[in-house]
Amino acid sequence: MTPHATGLLHDAWCVVFCCVVALAALGCDQRLAENTPVQPIAFSHKVHAGENGLDCQFCHAYARRSPVAGIPSLQRCAGCHRPLVASKREAAKPEVQKLLDFSDKKEPIPWVRVYDLPDHVYFSHRTHVHAEVRCQTCHGAVETMDQVSQVAPLTMGWCVNCHRERNASQDCLVCHR
Ligand code: HEC
Ligand code: HEC
Ligand code: HEC
Ligand code: HEC
Ligand code: HEC
Repeated sequence: MTPHATGLLHDAWCVVFCCVVALAALGCDQRLAENTPVQPIAFSHKVHAGENGLDCQFCHAYARRSPVAGIPSLQRCAGCHRPLVASKREAAKPEVQKLLDFSDKKEPIPWVRVYDLPDHVYFSHRTHVHAEVRCQTCHGAVETMDQVSQVAPLTMGWCVNCHRERNASQDCLVCHR
């Protein structure tokens, strides 16, 4: 091969290589974007659970007694935010105004789910909270997040590994009822 042809071949490989890298990066971005959905109101866990120190179970109050952790009602949000803005509603932050608009219309906020198992798997928060597995073990440092991102894969291997380490049941029928 002439030096010129080798050069061209090298360039061609560079282009292919760069495309592969770019596609991989794009794929990663898309996966992350899927796991960090844009919410109807820019609610920040960092502001509420971090800076203002609200307990997770103050808002996710079902976690210790039922399978679901639960998302707080609009009344719970408005209960704090109406008095906070009182008469000078126009001066409230735009995202807080959105919240009060939902509240005026008595429409629930259409929050988008982040963590979601397939229907054939049984999971219960109650059991895990009672076994003293911390929220952060499965959901990450939510109190530092402006937007909730999925940090655990929710695969069967992820569940079963911890069950093995913690001596919890690995019986198929425990998770597949
Ligand atoms: C052992 C892992 C684990 C622990 C510990 C855990 N979660 Fe979860 N969480 C999950 C899984 C898995 C889902 C998805 C469940 C589904 O789709 O059925 C979920 C879903 C959720 C949801 C959305 C659905 C719902 O249940 O309302 C919220 C909110 C939530 N978790 C909050 C919490 C809070 C708050 C704590 C601590 C009190 C906590 N979680 C502890 C694994 C965990
Ligand atoms: C215990 C009281 C309390 C509850 C309950 C509460 N908040 Fe807040 N919220 C605060 C405080 C304090 C701030 C920080 C001061 C501020 O920005 O007004 C805040 C800030 C905010 C902001 C503005 C963040 C920013 O800096 O732009 C939004 C939006 C918001 N909250 C939405 C909600 C929603 C939605 C709910 C219900 C899921 C909720 N809040 C529940 C006390 C509360
Ligand atoms: C002021 C109320 C409030 C507090 C305090 C709070 N959360 Fe939340 N949480 C919400 C709201 C509202 C949503 C739904 C919007 C969103 O996903 O950001 C949510 C969503 C979540 C989700 C995603 C649920 C899904 O859709 O799968 C997880 C996980 C979660 N919270 C965990 C926690 C943990 C852990 C703490 C404590 C460190 C905590 N939350 C404290 C109100 C709260
Ligand atoms: C970080 C550790 C951890 C992870 C991750 C985890 N678990 Fe568990 N799980 C436990 C512990 C600890 C227990 C309680 C064992 C006990 O009390 O006997 C438990 C108990 C259970 C039980 C009740 C078992 C019984 O005997 O009644 C079910 C069902 C369950 N887990 C499902 C799941 C599923 C589904 C996932 C994945 C989506 C999962 N777990 C992820 C630690 C974990
Ligand atoms: C601790 C909970 C847990 C236990 C125990 C468990 N699984 Fe699973 N299994 C899961 C979860 C979570 C998924 C969903 C994984 C996903 O969507 O990536 C799953 C998925 C599956 C699937 C795939 C279904 C599909 O949609 O493709 C099969 C098959 C399966 N499990 C069989 C078993 C068998 C057989 C056993 C016993 C040897 C078992 N599982 C024990 C949690 C568990």
